[in-house]
Amino acid sequence: MRRLVRETAIAPDDLILPLFVTPGKGVKKPIKSMPGHFQLSVDNIRKEAKEAGDLGISSVILFGIPEYKDPEGSSAYDPKGPVQAAIAEIKAKVPGLIVITDVCACEYTSHGHCGIIKNNDVDNDATLELLSREALSHAEAGADIVAPSDMMDGRVSAIRSTLDDNGFTQVPIMSYAAKYASAFYGPFREAAESTPQFGDRRTYQMDPANSDEAIREVMLDVTEGADIVMVKPALPYLDIIRRIKSEFNYPVAAYNVSGEFSMIKAAAEKGWLDGERAMMESLVSIKRAGADMILTYFAKEAAKVLQKEG
Ligand code: PBG
Repeated sequence: MRRLVRETAIAPDDLILPLFVTPGKGVKKPIKSMPGHFQLSVDNIRKEAKEAGDLGISSVILFGIPEYKDPEGSSAYDPKGPVQAAIAEIKAKVPGLIVITDVCACEYTSHGHCGIIKNNDVDNDATLELLSREALSHAEAGADIVAPSDMMDGRVSAIRSTLDDNGFTQVPIMSYAAKYASAFYGPFREAAESTPQFGDRRTYQMDPANSDEAIREVMLDVTEGADIVMVKPALPYLDIIRRIKSEFNYPVAAYNVSGEFSMIKAAAEKGWLDGERAMMESLVSIKRAGADMILTYFAKEAAKVLQKEG
């Protein structure tokens, strides 16, 4: 009877699996702080994507670990880069799966910041061109959705016009609209090798204490043409997810980030909590708060649980 009156359900097609693509062949390098996750070369990405698709997961989001980094992040738009190659491979071999790409500079810059540095600070406007070129190269490789995560002002409209001018009017933008300067990104920075080499990201990511500001950020992105808006992290910001869903009625994505995943994994390993139940409770709470889709490192495990439950 609990099932009969249940208000919220998660399905595998609500879930988006993040994957880390690295150059080479046969590479499967474990990410220590994220058990079950690896840096994968394109051949292994294909296997992982196939498995995700078979479990009913709708989408993957790709992050790249490039061959080379420079201060300008030029490997971000290399047509032969790992992300570009992985997009083409997945679209060819697992055609039903939606391929989303993370559009950001931090994995490609030698200093690890999400943009071009001028006078020891990230230069907002100089970064827009880099992001537009990166998004375009993803679209050219076949990406279904591009997801800018840098938090520069004006990037949604810059990317939208570049895509439109080049004939990619049908590629939607999922913007990381309300992205907080969070301690919960720690394990990801190991995974993506993107820790800033100086300073931090507080000049472009949001203060965790602010909620009205998230509304303003979403408003800007929606006005500039975002099709899906994201809140990140998820669990410490469920109130933000709910506010954005209620005030905009837009498709809302929530990013259940690396730290939220690793905390549960670590506690479960120690036998301090039931990892599977904590995972399912986290995901249903994010959905209940108002998220239409969830980016989560739990995607495969959760899809297996859902399959089992029928
Ligand atoms: C930055 C980016 C980050 C994440 C996704 N995109 C990290 C950051 O801002 O430092 C974090 C995701 C996670 O922690 O799982 N391009």
